[in-house]
Amino acid sequence: MSSQAHADHQTCILRQLKYFVFQFLQGSVTVATMVSWVCLLSGVFPEVGDKLREEIDSCVEDAPNATGSFHVKYVGTVPENTRFIVFLMSLHHDARFWEKPHEFYPEHFLPENVKKRPTSSFIPFSTGMRECPGKSVLRNPNCYDKDATYNFFNIPNILFTANGEPWATERKVVSPAYSPRIISAIDPTYSHRIRGLVDALRKRAATGEVFNLIEHVLPMAIDTICDTFMGISIDMQARDNAKYVKALLRIPDLFIERVVIPVYQPDIIYSLTGKKKEYQSYANVLFALVREVLEKKMEHRAELRQTSGASHEAGTKLFLDILLDKFEASEKKDMDLLTYETGELFVAGTVTISTMVSWVCLLSGVFPEVGDKLRAEIDSCVEDAPNATIEDCAKLEYLDLVVKEALRHFTVPFIARKAKKDIQVPDVGTVPENTRFLVSLLSLHHDARYWEKPYEFYPEHFLPENVEKRPKFAYIPFSTGMRDCPGAKYAIQSMKVEVVRILSQFKIASARMKPWKNPFTELSLGFGFTFVPTRGWLVTAELRNQSSD
Ligand code: HEM
Repeated sequence: MSSQAHADHQTCILRQLKYFVFQFLQGSVTVATMVSWVCLLSGVFPEVGDKLREEIDSCVEDAPNATGSFHVKYVGTVPENTRFIVFLMSLHHDARFWEKPHEFYPEHFLPENVKKRPTSSFIPFSTGMRECPGKSVLRNPNCYDKDATYNFFNIPNILFTANGEPWATERKVVSPAYSPRIISAIDPTYSHRIRGLVDALRKRAATGEVFNLIEHVLPMAIDTICDTFMGISIDMQARDNAKYVKALLRIPDLFIERVVIPVYQPDIIYSLTGKKKEYQSYANVLFALVREVLEKKMEHRAELRQTSGASHEAGTKLFLDILLDKFEASEKKDMDLLTYETGELFVAGTVTISTMVSWVCLLSGVFPEVGDKLRAEIDSCVEDAPNATIEDCAKLEYLDLVVKEALRHFTVPFIARKAKKDIQVPDVGTVPENTRFLVSLLSLHHDARYWEKPYEFYPEHFLPENVEKRPKFAYIPFSTGMRDCPGAKYAIQSMKVEVVRILSQFKIASARMKPWKNPFTELSLGFGFTFVPTRGWLVTAELRNQSSD
């Protein structure tokens, strides 16, 4: 491995360790920071890490299920309940074991090469969890509770954070809101709402200025979610919407920041740093908007009741109708809960779609050959692309590859779960109740066993012949199992319709981002719900003349 590649890899691992090691450590700040240091240093000094892993393997008979204190030579006594992360990505790219650590090189597994490595250098399924996390954890019916990490949202009992029976009941109640009917609402809604976005992009194109694309994409997403899931028009694009955009982007950002930086976790410190106030101020902006929507909807339902006797038109019971029916039928009439449940969809349904639409458009400029191919496909396959429909988008095979590849790199970075009972994991045996799992989609989606060019932007990963070679759960941008994303189909279809409508009319160029070989070492990325470029999706837009470009 070249020294540059080695340095890149180290940087990448350090970044990930920073995020994931921190993510796993909650509780006392002192213990958390020191355990984090030990785990981090085991990566910074590979020989120490090796010695540690060797020792754990040799001294502890059943380390994944270790209970009570035990002695580890290079560390001392490690207390009961300490959690360890064995960072497979680092191990599986260690140049001492792998001839071509960063290349897809199946010959690594020729018997003569396997013999040269220690057995523990290849543990794709770990010694503690030997199966694809999608199957053994996310799809395990006893492992759908969210880890305590999600408490930092400070919003209990909504679908995203609830556990056990309350979660199961809520999921069942709201599921009809994600039915195919909602997909059929996309075309008319987008036709209506795209005008605001196109007008804004036209103005940007006229000045040629650099701008953050999401500032226009997100207000449109708020409008479309309100139209489709709430049945209420709030015309966000026509408003002075900067404070809403900021609030919706900062809420996930601050949440993740608290998750990954242990010092922010105790409430008192979070308050003292002013972060709690900041988080609350953005939540207040969001909840004020939600209350406005709720008031309008309640008035609308009251009017409908007067005229037709029903609170919604036949066959049009939307997400918010379901929540309001539940609210009206409940004795408690918990207005806060109703606000949180409605607000949840504002965040989950707008920020995610907007960040991914912005990514795809930005990437069409970062990789000009990708942009050219996308525009060529749109121009040749869709007759009236500025008004493209779901049916039109279904013909666009290259678009499908690009959207999937964008999601592979930049989807939700990780998912945390807790086993509510002892669970059986194939090849491992019993993993005890209350074990906490971190499923890193980042690692899974960049695992060199499944991806020919793990860190490159290579839409061809999703050509049918390549998909066929991978296990089904190697790609799970919307999670999998009982707690998968209920909005996945809506999200994919909406993203495609929006991207086609934008790219058919504008050529988007990247203002700062250059083509990369590894986005996690070369770009400045941060965590929102999905990965985000820390300086925003900075682009310029050029109005297209389809006959000449
Ligand atoms: C590109 C867009 C999207 C991506 C990548 C995405 C991804 C995900 C992922 C990975 C999860 C699991 C999170 C976890 O378990 O911690 C999730 C859950 C969820 N998503 Fe999405 N999502 C997207 C769009 C949407 C949309 C459009 C909606 C609603 C309209 C939505 C609503 C939800 C909800 C309510 C949950 C919680 C489900 C539960 O816990 O039962 N998402 N999403």
